[in-house]
Amino acid sequence: MCGIVGYTGFQNAIHILMDGLSHLEYRGYDSSGIALEKDEINIFKASGKLVNLVESLKKADDDKLDAKTGIGHIRWATHGLPTVENAHPHTSSTGDIALVHNGIIENYKEVKSFLENKGYSFKSQTDTEVAAMLIGYEYDIHKDLKTAVEAAIKQLKGAWAFCVMHKNEKGTIVATRKNAPLLIGVGEGENFLASDIPAIIKHTKRAIYLNDGQIAKVTPDLIEIFNPDGTIAQNKVEVLPFEPMALSKMGYKHFMLKEIHEQPDVVRNILQNKIKDEFSKILLSDVNLSEKQLKDINRIQIIACGTSLHAGLVGKYIIEELTGIPTDVEPSSEYIYRSTIADKNTLVIGISQSGETADTITAIKQVKEKGSHVLIITNRKESLLARLSDSLLHVNAGIEVSVAATKSYIAQLMSLYLFAIYMAETLNKSADKVQEIKHELLTLPSKLEAVLSEGMKIREIAKKYSSFKNFIFIARGINYPTALEGALKLKEISYINATGYAAGELKHGPIAMLDETMPVLAIMNKGLVYDKVMSNCEEAFARQARLIGVANHIDDKHKAIFNDYILIPDISDLVSPALNITVLQLLAYHIAEYLGKDVDQPRNLAKSVTVE
Ligand code: G6P
Repeated sequence: MCGIVGYTGFQNAIHILMDGLSHLEYRGYDSSGIALEKDEINIFKASGKLVNLVESLKKADDDKLDAKTGIGHIRWATHGLPTVENAHPHTSSTGDIALVHNGIIENYKEVKSFLENKGYSFKSQTDTEVAAMLIGYEYDIHKDLKTAVEAAIKQLKGAWAFCVMHKNEKGTIVATRKNAPLLIGVGEGENFLASDIPAIIKHTKRAIYLNDGQIAKVTPDLIEIFNPDGTIAQNKVEVLPFEPMALSKMGYKHFMLKEIHEQPDVVRNILQNKIKDEFSKILLSDVNLSEKQLKDINRIQIIACGTSLHAGLVGKYIIEELTGIPTDVEPSSEYIYRSTIADKNTLVIGISQSGETADTITAIKQVKEKGSHVLIITNRKESLLARLSDSLLHVNAGIEVSVAATKSYIAQLMSLYLFAIYMAETLNKSADKVQEIKHELLTLPSKLEAVLSEGMKIREIAKKYSSFKNFIFIARGINYPTALEGALKLKEISYINATGYAAGELKHGPIAMLDETMPVLAIMNKGLVYDKVMSNCEEAFARQARLIGVANHIDDKHKAIFNDYILIPDISDLVSPALNITVLQLLAYHIAEYLGKDVDQPRNLAKSVTVE
């Protein structure tokens, strides 16, 4: 997490840096800062959101702000509180070097005591200041910034993307990365650096991706890239995929609301050219598994974090239902610290909207060593995870700005349906169910539109429940993950303590919490588990819990037990998670919006979590 940006060229750096940072706020937003190169390196920092830095710059000396080279940073705190002292850029002891960093220096304590023994003292609690001091120490020996960075990173452990400037190396930014993203935007007489595309897309559509361990020396007219062994590298210049338009709210109050409303088109987009009708075979050219390899797969492991993990849990139900292949789902952070069993007949599916999540990257690197085929489902086809894949399903949801994932989740679900269908067809299994799912998927966009048209009703219900401090979401079967994801959405953006349970588990503990202060939201789809969920609702009703139903059917005899219910279009059990979650996203959105929360940038969160 954290966003970094750099500029060197003929324009005023400050505007490019500040605009770039505003497009990286999804990566963290607890403090920010910039360093501008004039005769000296001038540093400006502020705690809190980027707007605080904008305000403090208004008071700064114009002359100091007039610079053509600079670096900027927006922080998500890992080491030390989000204070001005801990905000980046950090400097070397002389103040001649400025550094911005995304990642974590794992051995910073050892390096810090090494430097303290040499007489260095530190102003912040961060790992980054240690790196800045170390580069300064090496600069004193080598008198060259690129060589100093090269020498310093040999002594560091962990993950980093660095941009570094020295006051004596005019117009130069030295950049390097290891397990954290960094790209170089290529311009004419100017060049850019950034953690991600949105920060620079306005200025250039051409970029170079740095590989792990490479160092770049960037000036307005030249980009030199060096491999870890010192040889010159020839990275190719790639064309960036985003249109600046995608970054506008298009009249919606928040990006989250806009992104929820984009879901019908996201589904249409991803199904297009893949499912023609329910009778034709699926087309999925992105899967690089031969028929023989597919037939040999005896186990599937899905690894992911957060919302992507919930998509994976839905995926388990679909894949097992259609293919009969045992499928386990595990948080990446758990997967990496135990002896996992995977081999060449295991298919490992990594799911990540950002393609950058450190835990998932580590897990995927581990399974690659075991010879398993790695299928990555991501919204970022140029990401590190995508580059690690053997097969890549790009979910193609378009850029998602709001930190709470919505359209990328639906798109992940769609990819899992497509892949499960593909496997079932290749293995000649579950023909009837495959046909049913294809039919349901093709009708899903219009059903999503019907749910979105209920927005005002959901808003009214949201208002009614916004003062509750706790919430329980229940469901069974394939919608159990929907309950988990609905609860996650609510807590992420409203800070209400919401928990998802398998409805059958309610009576094994959580029921003790039920009374009139605890709303219970039940997801009920007319199908296999409908009557069972209804019984669990009756149990909650008997404990005076307020009940909200999200259902495609409610019997008249049951209506009385619900304080509120939202009816959704009829849909088969297997495809219902996509429709049900849309209701829960809207409910969470309207509660948070009614409470006046910062919907698109909830506290303490970031969209891209590049630390383990
Ligand atoms: C962060 C985001 C979540 C996301 C999770 C996993 O915590 O705020 O929305 O679900 O990371 O991210 P990934 O990019 O791997 O899906």
